[in-house]
Amino acid sequence: MNEGLPTAQELVWVPKAAEIAHEAGALLQEFFAQGVETEYKGDVDLVTAADRAVEKLIRVRLAEVFPDHGVYGEEGTREGLEREFRWYVDPLDGTTNFAHGFPHFCVSMGLERRPAGLAPGQDGTLEAGVIYDPLREELFTAQRGQGARLNGKQIHVTRIPELAESLVSTGFPSRKRHSSPNIHFYHEFTLRSHGVRRAGSAALDLAYVAAGRIDAFWEFNLNPWDTAAGILLVEEAGGRVTDFSGNHFELSSLEVLASNGPIHDEMMGLFADMFAGRDLNPIPTPAEWAAQRDARIVKS
Ligand code: IPD
Ligand code: CA
Ligand code: CA
Repeated sequence: MNEGLPTAQELVWVPKAAEIAHEAGALLQEFFAQGVETEYKGDVDLVTAADRAVEKLIRVRLAEVFPDHGVYGEEGTREGLEREFRWYVDPLDGTTNFAHGFPHFCVSMGLERRPAGLAPGQDGTLEAGVIYDPLREELFTAQRGQGARLNGKQIHVTRIPELAESLVSTGFPSRKRHSSPNIHFYHEFTLRSHGVRRAGSAALDLAYVAAGRIDAFWEFNLNPWDTAAGILLVEEAGGRVTDFSGNHFELSSLEVLASNGPIHDEMMGLFADMFAGRDLNPIPTPAEWAAQRDARIVKS
């Protein structure tokens, strides 16, 4: 944790990374306008030429601008991982949207400081985060201790006090889809809130919690390139980030619950109840519903 004023070196992280994110976003937009062919990495895990080209651009530019930083990217970049600073890069978060022409995706870059002696699986501290949505020209930035911003203007999480008045969001995995229980949580949170959005970009979901556009976000099995920048944004915007049981969030947590703060405990309570097997708001099965419908038709 940094105390006091940022050093001159720290002051360049966000502006320089923002420049790179803008370049990356411009390239994404070119690919988006042209249309791209899609390949499968597995199940419905899609990848396009845009993911690879943009990761390459970011890797090359980070090496020029921060030659002593390492890079860990979704499309395979593993460079300088022994170094004190490491960028987690998702060159295109929202690939499924992108591939279908659905205009909601971003570039995400989060900087971790890893002091000497840290074990490989142990987290350092998140120092800077940049998320850029090229279609809306929205740049979300955060630096530890300096707050979070959208296009340079300070942003804050909401103050909504309870889930019943909240708009929340989640996402679903594109690998091993049959082993995710998240649809049960989607159901339960839908019945207890103003609604659950599933917009298809975890990084933008987190940025939207920070910007007060939604009140919370949760997801199972995300990777550090999805979360590193967004977690810092939420924390710097005054929100809270933990795993589903309230433990300190780790980049390797595989569970993330990010909220405005006031509704966090209530959401954790719901997770606890559901993990304990309590069926809270049962809804009719399709067969039950069809039987009721058919009975009504026969009567009338
Ligand atoms: C995906 C998106 C999506 C989330 C998936 C991620 P990708 O990232 O963030 O919202 O639900 O779990 O894998 O594959 O588009 O970079
Ligand atoms: Ca992603
Ligand atoms: Ca991606």
